[in-house]
Amino acid sequence: MAKAKNPFSYGGRVTGEAFCDRQKELKELLSDIKARQHVILFSQRRFGKTSLVWRLLAEADKNGIIPVYVDLYPASSLAEFIEMYAKAIAESLSGYEKAMKLLKGLFSRLYLSMGVDGMGNPQWNVGFDRSRETESLDEVLMTFEAYLKKTKKAGVVVFDEFQQITEMNGKKMEARLRSAIQTHEHVSYLFVGSRKHLMQDIFSNPNRPFYRSGKIFPLGKISSDDFSSFIRVRFGSAKMAISDKALNAMLEATETHPYYTQYLCHILYDIAEGSRVREDDVPKALDLLITREATAYMNTWDLLTLRQRQALMCLAEIKPSESPFRLEALQRFGMSQPAVMMRALNSLVEKDLVDKENGTYEIIDVFFKRWVRTYISQTWPRP
Ligand SMILES: Nc1ncnc2c1ncn2[C@@H]1O[C@H](COP(=O)(O)OP(=O)(O)O)[C@@H](O)[C@H]1O
Ligand SMILES: [Mg+2]
Repeated sequence: MAKAKNPFSYGGRVTGEAFCDRQKELKELLSDIKARQHVILFSQRRFGKTSLVWRLLAEADKNGIIPVYVDLYPASSLAEFIEMYAKAIAESLSGYEKAMKLLKGLFSRLYLSMGVDGMGNPQWNVGFDRSRETESLDEVLMTFEAYLKKTKKAGVVVFDEFQQITEMNGKKMEARLRSAIQTHEHVSYLFVGSRKHLMQDIFSNPNRPFYRSGKIFPLGKISSDDFSSFIRVRFGSAKMAISDKALNAMLEATETHPYYTQYLCHILYDIAEGSRVREDDVPKALDLLITREATAYMNTWDLLTLRQRQALMCLAEIKPSESPFRLEALQRFGMSQPAVMMRALNSLVEKDLVDKENGTYEIIDVFFKRWVRTYISQTWPRP
């Protein structure tokens, strides 16, 4: 008999039954939005920010708070930002006829038109005078607030992958955005980002416009209890079971990382024979996962300097409680001085490969770490 559709999904945003828990976070974020508190939500990539935020926006909508979602990941210029933001506002309000009239009335520099995309679906187009970017930016920044004020409603705007703004015109853009937002009384803003050190610099550096402009909300892991019951239910929905030992071994390997956990479950579902996942399926699934990801890891590795590679190997091998600056560690990984190690580690932090928290360093991606440990360290010539 053919297997049912794989109940695990990884990669894109997950919704409905594929979304696990996060009740506590949802509750807190919803009450922040209601209180018009701006929030800075960050975590490493593929931890579930976008999925969580869409859940949250659906809740906000139910509570009469109008949601606007802008994904800044593909934006690399101010013009693109203006266009995407205006489009997102139009899309969100296009359900209401009156709103569209109002919206058009609020725009004097920007103009909206309805077209169709390649698939024949209706789509908003936004135009503006490219020689008047700053004025157009100011206009789009005030539009949603002005609309809400007129209609006496509340709204929430999400800027996903917000750290992208550092690639658009630098400080000037940040300053205008910040000063616009400061005067807004009807919108709560949610700044979401994956690159921790960039996000931290935007919001915690006293010399930057967004310094202390909202509540910092680091998105944590999904607890292993919640994830365990979710995984059991998902396997169950496809008429499969997973043994406790297999489940524990798997969560230990993924450290409950949401993306890798779904990914590994997806593989386990595919390779398991019969209707039960067993403990010895887990190492096979781990090997498969690493093999599939190896090209991406190698590409990352190829771009690093010798010092950076040595520092990564050190972090992959030593215990979390050990310091990479100990003489023994330095010697073992071919570094002459603590300062050399320090420089290498800091450059890895800047690349978002390593996280520095309370003075300790850690490789961010659990499977990249595993790959370094199993494939690199063993073949590396020892000094
Ligand atoms: N709450 C969740 N429940 C189950 N899986 C999740 C959850 N959040 C994230 N994931 C997994 O992680 C992947 C990436 O999620 P996403 O929301 O795109 O993360 P981010 O925006 O932080 O990069 C999803 O495809 C899914 O496999
Ligand atoms: Mg995302």
